[in-house]
Amino acid sequence: DTRDPTSLRTPIVAVLGHVDHGKTSLLDKIRGSAVIEGEAGAITQHIGATAVPLDIISSIAGDLVDPDDFDLPGLLFIDTPGHHSFTTLRSRGGALADIAILVVDVNDGFQPQTLEALDILRRSQTPFIVAANKIDTVPGWNASEDSPINDTYESQSDRVRQRLDERLYEIIGNLSDEGFSADLYWRVQNFQRNVGVVPVSAMTGEGVPDLLTVMMGLSQRYMKEEMEIDVTGPGVGTVLEVKEEKGFGTTIDTVLYDGTIRADDQLVVGGMNEPIVTDVRALLQPRPLAEIRTESRFEKVDEVSAAAGIKVAAPELANAMAGAPVRVVRDRDLDDVIEEVQAE
Ligand code: GTP
Ligand code: MG
Repeated sequence: DTRDPTSLRTPIVAVLGHVDHGKTSLLDKIRGSAVIEGEAGAITQHIGATAVPLDIISSIAGDLVDPDDFDLPGLLFIDTPGHHSFTTLRSRGGALADIAILVVDVNDGFQPQTLEALDILRRSQTPFIVAANKIDTVPGWNASEDSPINDTYESQSDRVRQRLDERLYEIIGNLSDEGFSADLYWRVQNFQRNVGVVPVSAMTGEGVPDLLTVMMGLSQRYMKEEMEIDVTGPGVGTVLEVKEEKGFGTTIDTVLYDGTIRADDQLVVGGMNEPIVTDVRALLQPRPLAEIRTESRFEKVDEVSAAAGIKVAAPELANAMAGAPVRVVRDRDLDDVIEEVQAE
């Protein structure tokens, strides 16, 4: 494969699931920080975005991932709220995603927002895997930090293994009731046809190497088969949040899912009354592994390619709306772009 990995689009991975099932904790484990500690009542109230580079993924996945096998630059994770009042945010996160992780607490099992998330995934035909989270809470669990699931599974007593199996098979049964053929991930051959269930603990990191390996495999295959995406064309994205940023005025936290945005681009952004036409003043990029929602130090960049979380500073953004489309004009006709934004 002679392609330049930087020219491939970063896949967008949405993390969905019922409230408190551990979506943010799982991302925290992956990025080694603690976003949940900064959240009001530890309930996620916004969509977040975190870019995880390939080298970090392969260092967590260890022997399971050989970076030479992959030509993706990494993964962009979108955290979504599980609380029932955030349906729109969940469907927005689900709609942006190329692939998804549905997080299910092994003790709590399927809950209303688990079913809602499944509906979103079904409607958008997004390939996904299930992270059966909190395996460390199975009574008698013998934790071994950050191990692949096979190793930690081997080191449990028969009794504990049986308890875990029961819960995993219940989840597999629930998926089947919803019309998804599912199995433990190591038995799945085709992840687009069958849903793989990966036992994990966001607390101890057990199974996280497996989860990342499966995500990389799924996205690599999916991106190659389904998307020959031009990452150099005019950028297309969605506003996650409209925010005041010291020294920059109103900014929009944006998920760029196609093309590029440059620091000298003209943009059309969906507004409360009518599309906003504006010129980029600055592109502010969160550090790798940083959550855009809580990041305070940004790097000014000249250009960013999809997929990425990027804070855009520009005049006239006061009427921009979360969920609104963002489109780069560049060498196209401004009226055409305005029409596209109105049509979305
Ligand atoms: P919302 O954003 O509100 O939908 O919740 P969430 O899914 O992001 O859940 P969060 O990561 O905030 O975790 C909820 C609670 O479960 C926290 O107290 C976590 O510490 C705990 N938790 C998450 N994952 C695990 C796990 O694997 N094991 C254990 N023991 N606790 C966990
Ligand atoms: Mg959360």
